[in-house]
Amino acid sequence: MATGDRQLHMVTPTIQSMPISKITGYNVYLKLENLQIPGSFKIRGIGNLIKKASQHGCKKIVCASGGNAGLAAAYAAKTLGVPATIVLPQSTPGFVADKLRDEYGAEVKIHGKVWDESNKHATELAKDSDCLYVHPFDHPDIWEGHSTMIDEAAQQLPCKPDVVIVSVGGGGLLNGVLLGMQKVGWSDVPCVAMETVGADCLNASLQAGKLVTLPDITSVAKCLGALTPASKTLELTQLHEKFQSVLVEDKDAVSACLKFADDHRFLVEPACGASLAAVYGSVIKDLQSSGKLGTIKSALVIVCGGSSVTLKQLETWREMFKL
Ligand SMILES: Cc1ncc(COP(=O)(O)O)c(C=O)c1O
Repeated sequence: MATGDRQLHMVTPTIQSMPISKITGYNVYLKLENLQIPGSFKIRGIGNLIKKASQHGCKKIVCASGGNAGLAAAYAAKTLGVPATIVLPQSTPGFVADKLRDEYGAEVKIHGKVWDESNKHATELAKDSDCLYVHPFDHPDIWEGHSTMIDEAAQQLPCKPDVVIVSVGGGGLLNGVLLGMQKVGWSDVPCVAMETVGADCLNASLQAGKLVTLPDITSVAKCLGALTPASKTLELTQLHEKFQSVLVEDKDAVSACLKFADDHRFLVEPACGASLAAVYGSVIKDLQSSGKLGTIKSALVIVCGGSSVTLKQLETWREMFKL
């Protein structure tokens, strides 16, 4: 197989969580995107974007992200044999820069105090015609790639779920999930989109009925920290018949990460904990009590994963939130 044809993402398992199903009283299924090699679902969409571009003659890629998008971009580029430059803000932990360089062979540039400054630099670096600028979430090829997780889940689940639960940052993952749900005939299945308070640009935009830019990100779920969602996200959420946007506190997202680590022996970021909090806590029950969700026999939770988490960090949060 030629390098450019290599499959970048794994087909991940969809498993029933026995401990969470026991808590909820219905079957909870987990799409384990944390098992992707770069640690999150991001490789599906970003891999698809980079693969298509490399098939069309792209000779290098540039991405501004100290998070899971940067890791996915660097991994995809390395696997396809395309040089990658990842631009990081000065605040990015040293271990991320080391990982990008040592494990993924990317050129790392530290530029700017915040992501916006790094991103501006990345777009300048990507001005050459044979260079691809990789946005972390806002591109149709990214949504197409993310949508494959729903194709897989539809094959893997014993029946159509009664609700799909997914985390939202800039909305790339949600776009992929909603497009995937259209594709497999799940347009009538309710979708619950989870954000944390302080990283809630979609919820704020839905309330305002237009795109809202948050002044700052105050949540510990930094990966959900887009200031403005993709405009396509607003469009798709308005099209999806049974769509709910829900916020949880950081404390609940972290608590869900801790319980998930004990129950399933996986470490995930609070970005993912936001979705798990919906089934570990009362989110789904509250939606049912207020008539926004009907009877649930099974739920599908997208376990989006995330690499920027350590046991030490989870312990620090456990103490900080007195969990
Ligand atoms: C682990 C994790 N979950 C969820 C998200 C949110 O994805 P999106 O920005 O596509 O909404 C991200 C984004 O970086 C992430 O890294």
